Amino acid sequence: MARETWATRAGFILAAVGSAVGLGNIWRFPFITGQYGGSSFLITYLAFVALIGFPAILVEFVIGRRTDRNPVGALRELGSGAWSYVGWLFVVTGFIILSYYSVVAGWFLRYTLIGLTEGFTITDPAEASALFGTVSTGLDTLLFHAVFMTLVIGIIAAGVRRGIELSVKVMVPAILLLLLGLAVYGFTLDGASAAYSYYLSPDFGTIAANWTEILPAAAGQAFFTLSLGMGVMITYASYLGEDRNLASDAGIIAALDTLVAVLVGFVVFPVLFTVGIEPGTGGPGAIFVSLTSAFAGIPGGRAIGVVFFGMVGIAALSSAISILEVLVSYLIDEVGVARIPASVALGVAVFLLGVPVTIDLIFLDLYDLLADGILLVLGSLLLSLFVGWVIPDIAREELRKGIADIGGLGDAWIWAVRIPIVIVVVVSLYLGIVDYADFLTGSFADWLAAR
Ligand code: PHE
Repeated sequence: MARETWATRAGFILAAVGSAVGLGNIWRFPFITGQYGGSSFLITYLAFVALIGFPAILVEFVIGRRTDRNPVGALRELGSGAWSYVGWLFVVTGFIILSYYSVVAGWFLRYTLIGLTEGFTITDPAEASALFGTVSTGLDTLLFHAVFMTLVIGIIAAGVRRGIELSVKVMVPAILLLLLGLAVYGFTLDGASAAYSYYLSPDFGTIAANWTEILPAAAGQAFFTLSLGMGVMITYASYLGEDRNLASDAGIIAALDTLVAVLVGFVVFPVLFTVGIEPGTGGPGAIFVSLTSAFAGIPGGRAIGVVFFGMVGIAALSSAISILEVLVSYLIDEVGVARIPASVALGVAVFLLGVPVTIDLIFLDLYDLLADGILLVLGSLLLSLFVGWVIPDIAREELRKGIADIGGLGDAWIWAVRIPIVIVVVVSLYLGIVDYADFLTGSFADWLAAR
């Protein structure tokens, strides 16, 4: 059977934007922007997306389009020796990320439902934390995890055109519209002007004083939010024809993803400032605890809350499908399994791996710090080294297809991939490993000892 391809250029771009725009933009971005000082983080992050993220998307695009394969097959075709096994890393990373991503997405579905049925009435932070406690673990959490994975499996089982492409053509415009509406609403709130100055007037002194923390955090966020380092963009580009201009597609994708993250700040910060909550405080539950109490205290909060949490659910779905597609494309291409059984089998396996996260949040850290802090970064590092040093000529030639006049762009790109990206990624990787070792010997060891 012939391999499927995207029906339209817009389909490919929307699928890639759908993958990029997700919990990373909405759950993680406002939280770490708050943690690292608002505007100072924002400007560093913007610079990283342009200088590091954009060339790194192209690294995955050229590999995928060149080989028309899943990441495991693609690396085996292009690389020899140890390189041919790098694709396996992506399979492992994809399993881990999707397993907890689905649990967290389930929290958003649950909050949407709470808004619809009961509204947001809790203003006391302690009570809001207690509510988060009941949403984030337990049997109900397991149920919402199952519901979310069922949706993901359903879309992927339907195929590239009828599943992914069709669904993102609805989901991505919906996310953008809802978010624009919410940002306009944010503008009308009392806290808007304080929020804008917090968010938009960068303080270069703060950046200079804290660069050892801000730079790796911004780099990590740039890779995560662009879905880099685990073969998603390889897989999506493998369904592309030869005539597309990869550089302009990558530019559109990076720009839309960034626009969404920035707009989320225009929603979340005015809401928080209006009710007097400090941005960037408190763990993975932060956005739930602070926003539910904020929605209880602002005009129209219930409707706004439902739209907000529902929009995040949609954004998470359009990202989650891209992760399952990496795994499924491997089984289809390499093992010859049909799409529907491959989607169901892998989706169920991912669901099972996520079960511990629904029981104790320590597993969220155990998975996230490993996958996000180490495996994704390692994946990006290996891909950059591979494209920059092992196959630069093939990569340059692949980039040139579909571009009328590439000028010096190809060489500039290869050099960006060879040195600056590698340096940034190595530093981030080192910090990620140190963090994970701290976690394993600290919180996790304590947790085990308490069993
Ligand atoms: N980019 C997605 C987000 O921002 C997360 C993701 C990471 C998706 C890696 C796929 C691969 O939520």
